Amino acid sequence: MKSEQENLAKRETWQSKWGFILACIGSAVGMGNAWLFPYRLATYGGAFLLMYLIFTFFIGVTGVIGEMNLGRAARSGPIGAFGAACAARRANCAWVGKALGIIPLLGVLALAIGYSIIVGWILKYTITSLSGSLLTINSVTGFQMAFGQMAAPFGNNLYLLLGLLLTFFIMSQGIGAGIEKANKLMIPLFYVMFIGLALYVAQREGAQAGYQWMFTIDWAELRRPMLHVYALGQAFFTLSLAGSGTVIYGSYLSDDTDTLDAAWKIALFSTLAAILAALVIIPAMATTGAKLSTSGPGLLFISMPYLFAGMPAGRLIMIIFFLAVLFAGLTSLVNLFEAPMALLQDHFGLSRKTSVLIIGALGTLVALCIQGVVAAWMDFISIYLVPLGAALAGIMFAWVWGRQKVQQEVSKGRPSAIGSWYYPLYKYVFCIITMLVFACGIIFQGIG
Ligand code: TRP
Repeated sequence: MKSEQENLAKRETWQSKWGFILACIGSAVGMGNAWLFPYRLATYGGAFLLMYLIFTFFIGVTGVIGEMNLGRAARSGPIGAFGAACAARRANCAWVGKALGIIPLLGVLALAIGYSIIVGWILKYTITSLSGSLLTINSVTGFQMAFGQMAAPFGNNLYLLLGLLLTFFIMSQGIGAGIEKANKLMIPLFYVMFIGLALYVAQREGAQAGYQWMFTIDWAELRRPMLHVYALGQAFFTLSLAGSGTVIYGSYLSDDTDTLDAAWKIALFSTLAAILAALVIIPAMATTGAKLSTSGPGLLFISMPYLFAGMPAGRLIMIIFFLAVLFAGLTSLVNLFEAPMALLQDHFGLSRKTSVLIIGALGTLVALCIQGVVAAWMDFISIYLVPLGAALAGIMFAWVWGRQKVQQEVSKGRPSAIGSWYYPLYKYVFCIITMLVFACGIIFQGIG
């Protein structure tokens, strides 16, 4: 086995600064933006939007900067990075960090597997709207049945496999020629398509009520604790903040990139994508006069296709919609699988292709088997593992590695050193709120 030093020397880096930012936007923009966000916004209205914005820009950006720098400082994913943080504290304690790093790593692998199932659904909808067979369904109950069959155990094997194949093909090409290139193509297209769709929906009669619902804050909603748990979970999930996805992308980043600048751009584009998705979905739902707060998770796979089918040029709209969501999903999935893949390369010295093959085989096998329980699987991960992983990364960098290191790393690539505001914000506000929300998830979810 080659030494870790040798493996480190072989590590790829991003080809350009914008390539890195686009890849992070690709990681950020995904089903969280296109599915979960509109669904939660439909449930809670503008109060959710408000909390999501606060959590994203005040707490999330802080965490993204932290994760990127933790990865860049260690040139490794969570296991190596947590190990390095602990070793910096006490030379013989690297193992503690490495052991804790397994939590976010397994978390992200589990997330990737669940996620691939949803991407498989989207792929099926994209291809069947292209072929026209999706349009042969013409009632809500028809779509409900179709969705039910697809989301059942072993219900969507073919498209799941196809989606995974596409993902692993991109990944096998490496960081620059694979991941970066795919993002440079898919992400701009995503925005173009969604802007077009939002403009189209705006022309429909009755769309007005949707905008009203999205942007009106019912202050009483803010007293519901689960709104905060969901809004923070959403903000973190969408920013790929779980102690792994952003750590690993940061680990390929050169020292001349300003991470503060990158992080707020990523947050801005991710928020834009979420709002764009909501601007398509919520007003479209409103045109039917439906009661938005009860629309539920079937929104994307049941209500939307039915709605599109009844609109002028419905087939084209449907194709554009699902293709754009597919791009968003694939670019996130690639990020989700990257940390486990990199572990095999960095720590075991395997080649990129072999690592893709191993993780690919494992991921595919588990994904095939859990198709029927994906909703519960994803809820569990996003409520518990995402905040836990994010908190662990924050603790490792801010509390264990400490002030001097954080200050030094975050200042890299910047015109001037990072201000003294950053460290306390990261160490106290970010870490404590993240742990609090993790605790709330356990308490309130438990109580129901
Ligand atoms: N951000 C993605 C979304 O909104 C999901 C995602 C990609 C993610 N990579 C991640 C979540 C890493 C947590 C950690 O759909």
